[in-house]
Amino acid sequence: MSEPTAPRTAPDLAAFPPAFAWGTATSAYQIEGAVAEDGRAPSIWDTFCRVPGAIDNADTGDTACDHYHRWPQDIALMKELGTDSYRMSIAWPRVVPGGDGPVNTAGLDFYDRLVDGLLEAGITPSVTLYHWDLPQALQDRGGWTSRETAEHLAAYASAVAGRLGDRVGTWATLNEPLCSAWIGHLEGRMAPGLTDLTAAVRASYHLLLGHGLTTAAVRAAVPGARVGLVTNHSTVTPASGRPEDLAAAARMDGHGNRWWLDPVYGKGFPADMRELYGVELPEKPGDPETIAAPLDWHGLNYYFPVTVADDPEGPVPHAREVRLPDVPRTGMDWQIEAAGLETLLLRLTEEYGVRELYVTENGSAFPDTAGPDGAVHDPDRVRYLEQHLAACANAVRKGAPLAGYYAWSLLDNFEWAYGYDKRFGLVHVDYATQERTVKTSGRRYAELIRAHREAR
Ligand code: NOJ
Repeated sequence: MSEPTAPRTAPDLAAFPPAFAWGTATSAYQIEGAVAEDGRAPSIWDTFCRVPGAIDNADTGDTACDHYHRWPQDIALMKELGTDSYRMSIAWPRVVPGGDGPVNTAGLDFYDRLVDGLLEAGITPSVTLYHWDLPQALQDRGGWTSRETAEHLAAYASAVAGRLGDRVGTWATLNEPLCSAWIGHLEGRMAPGLTDLTAAVRASYHLLLGHGLTTAAVRAAVPGARVGLVTNHSTVTPASGRPEDLAAAARMDGHGNRWWLDPVYGKGFPADMRELYGVELPEKPGDPETIAAPLDWHGLNYYFPVTVADDPEGPVPHAREVRLPDVPRTGMDWQIEAAGLETLLLRLTEEYGVRELYVTENGSAFPDTAGPDGAVHDPDRVRYLEQHLAACANAVRKGAPLAGYYAWSLLDNFEWAYGYDKRFGLVHVDYATQERTVKTSGRRYAELIRAHREAR
């Protein structure tokens, strides 16, 4: 595999193809608010937000950025940034509040208006069907540990695709299934908050099965739909050359990367990881083919690299993250290393044969505040953005079929268990007034987009 070159700060925009999609990304629960409007029922995140201590400051998504009511203004902001595409998610509990059963037309109406608004503004929607907000009614019946949830996802997706498919061509089935399975069912830091290896492995299986069933359902509802999957990955480096640390790094790579990519790209679930988990997979004949349905594109979410050491007593995968001293970090305490993005784009290209790639999320949280003049200066985020775009350009120069980049996020929003303190937006949100202010990073993004557009 090609070695990453040190990313230059000024991105080499000429590397990107003329039709490169410049976008921003959000997800439903993180921005919409209006959790009880127009027939929406609770999701597992509404429930998890009520668990004492689960979310910093006891924040909830009840109001979030009030995007449900302010979406016209948010589309205007996308236009101001000059983006051509918007990655959004649909809230399953708005569309099928019971998880399965009747479709709530009023819930779909919201997305119908939103999609029309985007298209009128010249912005192409890229729609993610599942960004973690499982209807609570399904959790009450086992959630992702149950095979039925995978089937219900496909049925809900087919209702959404049937309604929006005449205007939406690009679909993602799942966002970051790793987080749903491992963080939600093994580490307990995300909804539904379980710490149970068997539940986690079963959930991982049913999420990928749901991905496969949904791929077929969307294609059946929308001939010509372009369907993909969004996964998050980190590069994994052993903390030392000790054989134990090398093996730990291989296990972490299996847990975070191969477990999610191998079955989707026809290689099956990795045997070493199956053995390590020691949990029987709920496999049925035909499932491997369903899970490995050929995709039109793959979305990579990249934020940070990890360094790991052997940790025999720790939880699976028995690899402990080592905190490197003296490296740059974001406000999430995540190490900043743009070269990891280049490495992963090339790995998806070379090892998995992906033929159309998007960076579906990439971004950084910093504690931004508005200055006395109301402006929000965020030089650290500007640098992060430039370095990671430079890494994308390097990957493209080396053959990665990268067709677009979505900055996470359009707006500061509800950062799950971290609540509202962690701000990832290119646009600042004052939660007391819901006032939006484009940050310096948003202006820089707009400049880069314009420069690329003028050169093409
Ligand atoms: C990945 C998730 O998809 C998104 O919801 C989250 O806010 C960002 N990473 C930042 O953590």
